[in-house]
Amino acid sequence: MKTKKLVMLIVTIAVALFVLIPNLSWAEDGAAIYKTKCAMCHGADAAGKPAAKIPSLVSDEAKKQSDDGLAKAVVETAKHPAGVKSIPADDVKAIVAYIRSLQK
Ligand code: HEC
Repeated sequence: MKTKKLVMLIVTIAVALFVLIPNLSWAEDGAAIYKTKCAMCHGADAAGKPAAKIPSLVSDEAKKQSDDGLAKAVVETAKHPAGVKSIPADDVKAIVAYIRSLQK
């Protein structure tokens, strides 16, 4: 009986790590890209710069947008520099996940 419990525990931990590790590294990627490509305009806390007409990404409005909507805005916003518009879709996804974490 004891061995069975131990095996169950190990399996549970293994599954938890399997689920958590890719998510953690993903969030870190998004944070790193955000800091290098977005923070200079939208701010490290994503609050934007109203004086420069740069929108907040943590406003109620931004929270209501779908992940796809935010991702589209990254590559389609006319005022975004070419280096932002050309970010690959996977990286945009990671950034959107990071923005969601800032919205909480
Ligand atoms: C050169 C400054 C600049 C950089 C760099 C920049 N943005 Fe923006 N962003 C803007 C401005 C200005 C707008 C508003 C454009 C408009 O009103 O048409 C905007 C709009 C947005 C919007 C739409 C917000 C809304 O409420 O509709 C999102 C989402 C966004 N940016 C995300 C990002 C992300 C993510 C990055 C980094 C990958 C980034 N931006 C990099 C200046 C920047």
